[in-house]
Amino acid sequence: MADHFYTKIKWRCPSNIAIVKYWGKKDHQVPCNPSVSMTLSEAFTEVEMEISPKKDKDVKGVELEYFYEGIKNVPFQLRVQTYLESNLESFPFIKNHSIHINSSNNFPHSTGIASSASAFGAIALSLVDAQNEFSYLSEKKSFYKKASEMARLGSGSACRSMYGGFAIWGHHPNVKESSDQFAIELTDIHDNFKQMQDAILIVDDQQKKVSSSTGHSLMNNHPYAQSRFLQAQKNAEEIIKVLSNGDYDTLIQVAEAEALTLHAMMMTSHPYYLLMKPGTIDAIQKIVHFREETHTPVCFTLDAGPNVHVLYPSAFKTVVTEFINNDLKPFLKEVIFDKTGKGPEKLY
Ligand code: PMV
Repeated sequence: MADHFYTKIKWRCPSNIAIVKYWGKKDHQVPCNPSVSMTLSEAFTEVEMEISPKKDKDVKGVELEYFYEGIKNVPFQLRVQTYLESNLESFPFIKNHSIHINSSNNFPHSTGIASSASAFGAIALSLVDAQNEFSYLSEKKSFYKKASEMARLGSGSACRSMYGGFAIWGHHPNVKESSDQFAIELTDIHDNFKQMQDAILIVDDQQKKVSSSTGHSLMNNHPYAQSRFLQAQKNAEEIIKVLSNGDYDTLIQVAEAEALTLHAMMMTSHPYYLLMKPGTIDAIQKIVHFREETHTPVCFTLDAGPNVHVLYPSAFKTVVTEFINNDLKPFLKEVIFDKTGKGPEKLY
């Protein structure tokens, strides 16, 4: 076991879109309910991590430099610094090494797409990989489970980005090996859902006024919290069934109900707030109308922001792309066409 080492590692980690939402957490990023997501392909973060011996061994604490596309990013550096400081036990090499991170996203920075999931996913993968390389890792847990657990401690939803296709995070009595500590892959997926498209409609590209962490904490004293957590538990069970039996109608119904419930929780918290914009409602109504008129299995979902994700099987790509380009795109800032992804990739 080397005491000092030099290594340069680069990981690409995709973002994910939740179908059953994680909203509300206990200490140490333990979720209040299970969530189910689809890993994306085009929205990803790449993290290059350079690990070298500390120049001055007497310097205590974490030595970190965080660059975003070559420019120092102080707010994110502080967040990662805190993360590393509280996880020294998992990554003991940090004590006598300095870490230089350069990260980049392949989606436009200003689109309001949450990047902390893919960023913390890539950071956790690189750290766990570095531990493995120098055999500090003593646990028997598989590489991706460990990376998922460590990603979760940085950003909850990041833990679901470790696998291609679909993942569940949070203990569910009916799902073997499901855990609050890390996500696992859902492997029983019907052909109908193996290749899904996700067109991300950028309604608004401003930084949102209420962060996700504030939103999670408002679930602590929320009047509807307990029923919401129970509902999510039932919806997770339903979605797992649907992903395996290929039932489009139920997927649509559960996905849309989850999206609206997430925002209903925000609107009924104390203090209440609203992240949807007129363009969000307009897009939702057009999507529902298009589905009713054409019987195309297309639905919407939302994350904690005004942008709309349009989900549809690849078999319907031509007709839905035409609908998006003609009826939605003229009213939007941008559309990002994404799809089911294969999961993270080690670049070197
Ligand atoms: O991972 P966080 O703390 O950014 O929370 C994400 C919450 C939602 O995106 C709204 C839902 C989810 O499950 O991803």
